[in-house]
Amino acid sequence: MEDAIRRGFSDRVTGERPNAIETSNLRQRVRRMAAAPAELQSARRFQNANVDVRAMERQCVLPAVSDTAALRAFKILRTRVLRRLDMHKWSSIAVSGMSVGEGKTLTAINLALALSQDVNTFVFLVDLDLQRPQVANYLGMTFEKGLSDYLLGKAELDEIVYKLQSERLGVIPNARAFQHSSEFLNSPRMGEFTQALEREMPRRIVIFDMPPLLASDDVLAFAPQFDSMLLVVSEGKSGRAMLRGAKEVLAEMNLLGVVLNRSKERNESAYY
Ligand SMILES: Nc1ncnc2c1ncn2[C@@H]1O[C@H](COP(=O)(O)OP(=O)(O)OP(=O)(O)O)[C@@H](O)[C@H]1O
Ligand SMILES: [Mg+2]
Repeated sequence: MEDAIRRGFSDRVTGERPNAIETSNLRQRVRRMAAAPAELQSARRFQNANVDVRAMERQCVLPAVSDTAALRAFKILRTRVLRRLDMHKWSSIAVSGMSVGEGKTLTAINLALALSQDVNTFVFLVDLDLQRPQVANYLGMTFEKGLSDYLLGKAELDEIVYKLQSERLGVIPNARAFQHSSEFLNSPRMGEFTQALEREMPRRIVIFDMPPLLASDDVLAFAPQFDSMLLVVSEGKSGRAMLRGAKEVLAEMNLLGVVLNRSKERNESAYY
C-alpha cells in the first residue's frame, strides 16, 4: 500500500517543472540539507505507519488527490518553504491560522508529504493540536502509542514515531485530548521531545500542526520551540478584525508565509 501511495504521488507530480532558478536553488539546498546516510539508517528503526488510503481520499490528503491544481499548489508551496527555511537557517514550522476549520491540519499533512517526497531530508510531522488532535484521523492511521504517552512519561521517542511515505517522513500522532494543553506545551517534557527530535536527526524539518492562534494561548506557549510560523487563512473566513487581533501574537514570531486555502482563483499565486 505504501508503494502505491508513493507511486501515485510521484506519477502525478513529475509532469511539472519548476523554473530554472528554483530548480538550481533546490539542488544547492539538497546538497546542503541532504540527510546523512547515518541519519536515514537511524530512521529505519521507526515503525511503519498503518494508514488507510480511503480515509486519506476522503480528507483530500495529497497522494490520494487527483486534482492537479492542488498538487501543483503544494509543489510550489514546498519549493518556497524550502527556499525560506534555507535562507534563514530555520528547520521547524508551526502551522496555525486565525480560526477553526481553515485547513491548517490538511496543509500541515500535505506539506509534510510534499517535502518528504522531494528532497533527501527527513521530515517529522507532529500533531500538536493537543485539545483536538486530528492528524491520525486524516491519515486513517491506527497506532499504539502517541505523543500523549510520551508527554506523560509512558513512552520514549522510538515508540511514537511512525514512518510514512518512504523512509523520510516520521509522523508523531496523538489520540488523547489534553484540557490544560498550554501547560503541556510549556513543560520540560515537551522541551525534551523537541531536543530528542533534533538529536535524532540533526538535519530534519519539523512541522507542528497547531490550533488557531486566537482560540487559546497554545501557540504562544510553544513559540520558543519553533523557528517559523506558516499561517493558513481560508478565503472568506479570516476577517480583518481577526487579522488585527493576531498581529500582536505574530509580532513575536518569524512568519514563514501565508497560505490562502480554499481560494476560488485557480491560478498558482492564489495558494501562497
Ligand atoms: N482546500 C480544501 N479543499 C477541500 N477540503 C478542504 C480544504 N481545506 C480543508 N478542507 C477540509 O476541511 C475540513 C477542515 O480542515 P482542517 O481540519 O485541515 O482545518 P483546521 O484549520 O485544521 O481545523 P481546526 O481548527 O479544527 O484544527 C477537513 O475536512 C478538510 O479535509
Ligand atoms: Mg486542525
